Amino acid sequence: MNNLIEVSGLSKTFTLHQQHGVVLNVLSDLNFSVSAGECLVLHGQSGAGKSTLLRTLYGNYLAAGGSIRILHNGQWVELVDAEPRQVLEVRRQTLGYVSQFLRVIPRVSTLDVVMEPALARGWTKEAAEERAKSLLSRLNIPQALWQLAPGTFSGGEQQRVNIARGFMVNWPLMLLDEPTASLDDVNRQVVLELIAEAKAAGSALIGIFHDRTAREAVADRYLDMTPEHSKQQEYVYAG
Ligand SMILES: Nc1ncnc2c1ncn2[C@@H]1O[C@H](COP(=O)(O)OP(=O)(O)O)[C@@H](O)[C@H]1O
Ligand SMILES: [Mg+2]
Repeated sequence: MNNLIEVSGLSKTFTLHQQHGVVLNVLSDLNFSVSAGECLVLHGQSGAGKSTLLRTLYGNYLAAGGSIRILHNGQWVELVDAEPRQVLEVRRQTLGYVSQFLRVIPRVSTLDVVMEPALARGWTKEAAEERAKSLLSRLNIPQALWQLAPGTFSGGEQQRVNIARGFMVNWPLMLLDEPTASLDDVNRQVVLELIAEAKAAGSALIGIFHDRTAREAVADRYLDMTPEHSKQQEYVYAG
């Protein structure tokens, strides 16, 4: 198989220092891989650890153990315990992440927010602007908003700006946290098309989709994260 990511024995715990040091074993001993052109959908009820898994893969959370290997510029890179510099390098070139909410930076225009991943890769401003405008149009963001900072946009508009930014460049590996939540049918369809285009271009995707129609449209395989299957949610008290 043409794997782009290989995860083995991955675990993640949270220690709640404010609450008697309770330790939540949110992820324990996860094993999976995803190949080029394939979409793995995380399946499990609210609280099963789906978002935690994406954040751990992206390096926002430190894993408690296990291995996350990602094919980066033709070489396998271990992300668990990697240097921050290495993680940033992988994020710039290889690993894209559409988070659930747009991180708004005051006074930065919508166009600049969307173009940023392309400019970070050295695209010309003209090329980046052309792609960004095309994505914003497809996602039905009115042209009058493009020069404004998205801080005052509606939730659905912010999410669409976030999606435009996420799909600005071709990521070999993409993480999607509920990209179709709170979108109307027309825009949900656009997102499903963008996902299909990314798959056709050879991306490997790992996604969370609340809505069943979206899930069934994009999923090639499911990772079952319900507690019975992964022995998660064991509550252990530490000192
Ligand atoms: N930063 C955090 N600190 C402590 N506990 C957390 C944190 N993030 C998530 N959790 C806990 O981990 C579990 C899984 O959460 P999450 O990954 O958001 O689930 P899902 O995305 O599947 O709904 C929940 O019990 C949640 O309360
Ligand atoms: Mg979640």
